[in-house]
Amino acid sequence: MKTYVRLLKYSLKYWKYLALSIFFTLIFAILNGVSVYLSIPLLDTLFNQGVQEVQQTAVSKGSSFLPEIIVSIKDSISNAFNSFVFSGSKLDALLKICIIIFTAFLFKNIAGYLQAYFLIYVEQGLVRDLRDNAYKHLHTLPLSFFKKERTGNLISVIVNDVVAVQNSVSATFLNLIREPLTIIVFLGIALSISWKLTLLSLIVLPFSLTIISWIGLKLRKYSTKIQEKMADITSIIQETVSGVKIVKAFSMEDAENKKFGNESANFFRLMLKITRVRNVSSPVTEILSVLIGVVIIYSGGVLVLENESIRASQFLGFMFAIFQLMPPVKELSSVNNRIQESSAAADRIFEVIDTPPLISDPPNPVKISGLNSDIKFRNLTFYYDDSDERILENITFDVKKGEVIAIVGPSGGGKTTLVDLIPRFYDPTDGAILIDGVNIKDFHLKELRSKIGIVTQETFLFNDTIANNITYGLENVDRERLIEVAKIANAHSFISELPNGYDQNIGERGVKLSGGQRQRLSIARALYRNPDILIFDEATSALDNESEKLVQEALDRLMKSRTVFVIAHRLSTVRNADKIIVIENGKIVQEGKHDQLLEDKTSLYNKLYNLQFKL
Ligand SMILES: Nc1ncnc2c1ncn2[C@@H]1O[C@H](COP(=O)(O)OP(=O)(O)OP(=O)(O)O)[C@@H](O)[C@H]1O
Ligand SMILES: [Mg+2]
Repeated sequence: MKTYVRLLKYSLKYWKYLALSIFFTLIFAILNGVSVYLSIPLLDTLFNQGVQEVQQTAVSKGSSFLPEIIVSIKDSISNAFNSFVFSGSKLDALLKICIIIFTAFLFKNIAGYLQAYFLIYVEQGLVRDLRDNAYKHLHTLPLSFFKKERTGNLISVIVNDVVAVQNSVSATFLNLIREPLTIIVFLGIALSISWKLTLLSLIVLPFSLTIISWIGLKLRKYSTKIQEKMADITSIIQETVSGVKIVKAFSMEDAENKKFGNESANFFRLMLKITRVRNVSSPVTEILSVLIGVVIIYSGGVLVLENESIRASQFLGFMFAIFQLMPPVKELSSVNNRIQESSAAADRIFEVIDTPPLISDPPNPVKISGLNSDIKFRNLTFYYDDSDERILENITFDVKKGEVIAIVGPSGGGKTTLVDLIPRFYDPTDGAILIDGVNIKDFHLKELRSKIGIVTQETFLFNDTIANNITYGLENVDRERLIEVAKIANAHSFISELPNGYDQNIGERGVKLSGGQRQRLSIARALYRNPDILIFDEATSALDNESEKLVQEALDRLMKSRTVFVIAHRLSTVRNADKIIVIENGKIVQEGKHDQLLEDKTSLYNKLYNLQFKL
């Protein structure tokens, strides 16, 4: 319920539209009542009752239940109406009633249309806000969040769960405003005709409500499961589509099909289960309604036949009112189910929105002007969120402006983790990184990152043009600079050979380019921003000699006049570095220049040199 209230709060922003919708709902409900009420004079005319008789019985015998004032207002209105309608001949009266009935229905439907339009505006606005919020929030979350959550899950929350909320929110809004108003109007009509009959009809209600809320509870349980299963299915699709090459290479199509088939069979069974419960809800209410119906027909019939306290036309009018009352009551019973379903989906959306962004801006950020003198790493210790494994231990070293630092070491040693701390993808568990003496936590996050260029271990390119990939995120593209950086990155010549050159779309994840070409594009991308600090996580994948040479050249040019951290797998990179840091099991085991490090014949660096770098 708390979730639902929170969901409703989102709609407050649209209160004007909501107010309009409620206004037209009110008109709709009143005209709805009027059109049913009009059946009484219609029947009177057809059954040949004169205006005198009508006025006599109309002096409310059956409605002593209502307060004096309302009774007198109602009587004077109905008297005025009766004398207007029944002033001429019978045929005149019939014509008048028909015209009034048509007018009432016409305006009722116009009001119904407007009410729906304004409501949909509110509900779609709410869904848009919810989706935008969840998506925006994703960008504030730390990398660790994305390592933990499956991509498909997140997609499912923002795509499927939002739709689930939308469906039920739309239904409930309509029901929570329109149905209660309809109920009030028709209950009023029923009460004004005979309060005894009305009370009788309401007796069965609490009984049916109990059954209905029990069904609601069950439904909520299932719908959470359904959304989870949907997320599983989305995850499988997402993973196999991203990894389609691996799936084919390992001939895993059958196994993947089986996995998918299992999940979709589970989903099918769950859907059947929830459908069974959901569809029991409406026949149960209908049977209860019919029970109320026959009890009333019998008792009302007795009143008409024996006591004659109400006219037959009034009794029929009463029956119309009661029957009009049933659909909204039935709808209201399903509101609860829908609220439960949407709450389950909303819970999952709010879970994302409520995840705290761990890494955020300090309250009073220090202005960063760039790198002026040095970067200091002080006693860095790092654990990934919920693991006990210490990834980095007591890392301390200094880097001067303009230096090239090569970080080497065995796989899994913590090299990528170490450089991930510089742009604050993660914060160190202990220790600090200082740029010109200021802890990087004291800078504005976006400003800090704008000073850093990154080429990651796995290149990622967007499904967009070459130009947009290189200038990613920057407006006012400088075409000359674009070509200049492409040349530095050794990418210009292959780009020029593409049919559309820089405006060539490269397809999702850059599948239309070779590994080396993609790497050179991501070097150009890092370069375009002209960052003070450059982080280059060399791909471990072997490139052919030609690509290798081109990437290496690009790299050499890139390193000029910049402070560079390079996780190196190539001898040439390492040899030219101003300082080499050897990391093993999260600790610095050696530090110095290439020739110094080679002196110790038993060292790890020597071993790496002999095994890894001898290309
Ligand atoms: N998100 C994560 N959560 C938990 N542990 C992680 C996470 N990412 C990496 N690790 C662990 O941290 C350790 C260091 O990983 P890291 O990626 O920094 O190694 P690396 O030195 O870059 O290796 P490589 O040369 O193969 O790229 C590894 O043992 C790895 O299993
Ligand atoms: Mg790595």
